[in-house]
Parts: sequence; C-alpha cells; structure tokens
Amino acid sequence: MPHDQAFVSVFDRGFMFGDGIYEVTPFYKGKPYRLEDHLDRLKYSLSQIEVELEIDLIRRTMLEAVSRAGLENSDCAVYVQITRGVAPRTHFYPQHIEPTLLLYAFPVTLEGFENKKASVLVSKDLRWHRCDIKSISLMANVRANNESHTAGLAENILLRKGYFTEGSHSSIFFVKNNTLYTHPEGPHILSGITRKAVIELCANLGIKLIEDCVHIDELVEVDEVFLTGTTTQILAVTSMFHKEEEVFSTTETGKITRALQNEFLRITR
Ligand code: PDD
Repeated sequence: MPHDQAFVSVFDRGFMFGDGIYEVTPFYKGKPYRLEDHLDRLKYSLSQIEVELEIDLIRRTMLEAVSRAGLENSDCAVYVQITRGVAPRTHFYPQHIEPTLLLYAFPVTLEGFENKKASVLVSKDLRWHRCDIKSISLMANVRANNESHTAGLAENILLRKGYFTEGSHSSIFFVKNNTLYTHPEGPHILSGITRKAVIELCANLGIKLIEDCVHIDELVEVDEVFLTGTTTQILAVTSMFHKEEEVFSTTETGKITRALQNEFLRITR
C-alpha cells in the first residue's frame, strides 16, 4: 500500500521497546542476491527473540514488493522489519499477539563503490552483547554514526576493549602481511552476508584469510582496510581517525581490496 496509508499502532512493541528485528536484502537489476542467506539470518534473529513467522510468506512478499514497486530491472533493496506485535506496555512478552510485518522495496545505488575511498572514525563499541541478532534497537549504532557523519566521515568502526569489531552498519576487514583478518562470528558482530561472500571469494582467489580480531595497536602493521555490507558493497578505507589523530592512512585502494572488488563485481553483475 502507499506509505502514507500504512499505519502502526502506538502500542506496537517495535515503537515502544525496539522489540523487533530486521533484514536488508540487495537486488541487482531486480534479482535477489543471496536471498536464502538473508532469510536464514532473519530466521535466526526471529528464533533468538522467540517470534514465529512463516519464512515462505516473507520470501514471496519480498519478491512481490520489488515488482509492485516497479523495480524489477533496477538495483534496489528490500527492508523487512518484524516486531513482536501490539499490546499494552509490559516488559515481559504478552501472550497470543500477532507479529507486525513491515516490508518495502526501495531503489539503492549499488554501483561505483570500487571508485570510492572512505575516511572513517574509530568509536567505542557501546552496543549490547548480542550484536549477532539484527535488532531494530540501534541507539548505539545511530549515535556513533551520527558522530562520524558530523565530522564529515563515511562510517565509524567500533572498538571493544581495544579490538575492532565492525562498522555501525558494515563489516570490517584488514590486510596484514598479505593475509586478510576479520572479527570472528559471535555475539559481538553481525554475521554479515557480504562478509560471508568475501570469505568465499578469498578461497576462489587463493587469498589467506584468518577470522581473528585486530587490535588498534596492530594498525602500524596493517596495509589495507575495507568495509563490506549490503549498502556498502566493498569499500576501501584510506584514512582512519581516532581521538582526532589519523591512525591509518594510505593513498590508493590496496591490491587485495581491488582483487576482491573485481571478483565481487564479476559474480554479482
Ligand atoms: N546493515 N554489521 C552491521 C552492524 C550491520 O548493520 C550490517 C548491515 C552489516 C553488514 O551486513 P550485510 O553484509 O549482511 O549487509 C554488518 C544494514 C545494511 C543496515 O542496517 O542498513
């Protein structure tokens, strides 16, 4: 329905508590990319918050949304949000309520990422300890990202106890001694679908990859940094600021980043 006719109750628990989860799936020229991976992650998030909803219905509606929005030949994405539903405000889960499903397709620029270079801000990771759930409660991410935006920077990368976890809405990779490093899966990062694709590409290209944390003190040994994500794609980071000091700087997109960008373009377009 037209967005100005779509309404949600003020007692929706998504509105009151941020009690819900979401997913963003890219469509290249109208074709979904790794749809089943996105649906599996959605299913995982739902199971972790103990909400039940039929995944087949979501899959069908996502595809329908793209064609109903007239985006079947365009680069676009589908946003899916599921909240626990509508009930008088109690912290415990109310019984017998229907989840609220919000889903829409929107055009998005997925081209040209390989020509960009990002400067980012290093911020404290103030999020909770279940970042593996794609929760709509994004206060820490929003606050951090606004700080980088205000400073004229593209994204912020988050530090937990001195170790890089991920971006406010992207995953992060480092190249050190021709080896790629990224934070292991677990409660402190979202298991990114683009991250997973990059890990697979490493195997195809013979690039050594280690799922291990990188400490801020190791930056002196780091040659390349890049971010990945549905809306970010694979974005070279050429400058990093921490407490107003530039802690990482390079002029060009590194050779491993470039090889991965080229391979990603080849398989997705
Ligand atoms: N964000 N880490 C975080 C915290 C994210 O929010 C995202 C994606 C990623 C990358 O995941 P993926 O490759 O599956 O998109 C990593 C979405 C795009 C968003 O919040 O809009």
